[in-house]
Amino acid sequence: MSDKPNDKKPPRKPRAAVNKADSEISKPVQSESPLSFDTSAVDVEKRKFITIATACVGAAGALGIMAPPFVGSMAPSERAKAAGAPVEVDISKLEAGSMMTVEWRGKPVWIIKRTPEQTAELAKHNDSLSDPNCDVTSQQPAYCKNASRSIKQDIAVIIGICTHLGCSPSAKMQKGGDMGDAWTGGFFCPCHGSKFDLAGRVFKGSPAPTNLVVPPHQYLTDTTLLIGVDKAEA
Ligand code: FES
Repeated sequence: MSDKPNDKKPPRKPRAAVNKADSEISKPVQSESPLSFDTSAVDVEKRKFITIATACVGAAGALGIMAPPFVGSMAPSERAKAAGAPVEVDISKLEAGSMMTVEWRGKPVWIIKRTPEQTAELAKHNDSLSDPNCDVTSQQPAYCKNASRSIKQDIAVIIGICTHLGCSPSAKMQKGGDMGDAWTGGFFCPCHGSKFDLAGRVFKGSPAPTNLVVPPHQYLTDTTLLIGVDKAEA
């Protein structure tokens, strides 16, 4: 037996690695790789717009939204009815200091359960707000034109769409943090910097012209909300 290394035969490749059919299948996949696109042909401005629009819509869509069931399989008239139908929401598991999001008429609706401290803060920053007393009556039903903009003092129901250009603001419910020491909790719209408190009232200096909208709603039980219809209409 020789000691020369060249006498050793190279190990044989596994059969699958040299299978002709496999190599033929892989070719078109490689040729369609996004890396082969001519990026100089991409309209950069259009791409920016699509990115921003997607971010706005995505913010609304990513938050545990509840939609009417089986809408896709309904007849057109049934679909239209379901899309505008009131939404019943169980809030029994909503904890103080947290919020949930449901969908009503294609819009995100925030249900916020304020802590007693957060509710008490609402009255302390009226001077910093554009419409502290909710005088723009289009922004809430008459039964929510009060200090907490709500039926129950601790529960806010607000449409999560900025009144500037329609993006969905981010929840910043905790005090301070990246919003600064004076921040007592609320919402921040990163699109152009509008700020809202935990009742959806807009802070002065924001590009948003009005408070966030409070939709019509009522309580069916202590822990069941019906969003989309006033008590008088039910
Ligand atoms: S869309 Fe909210 S600040 Fe412009």
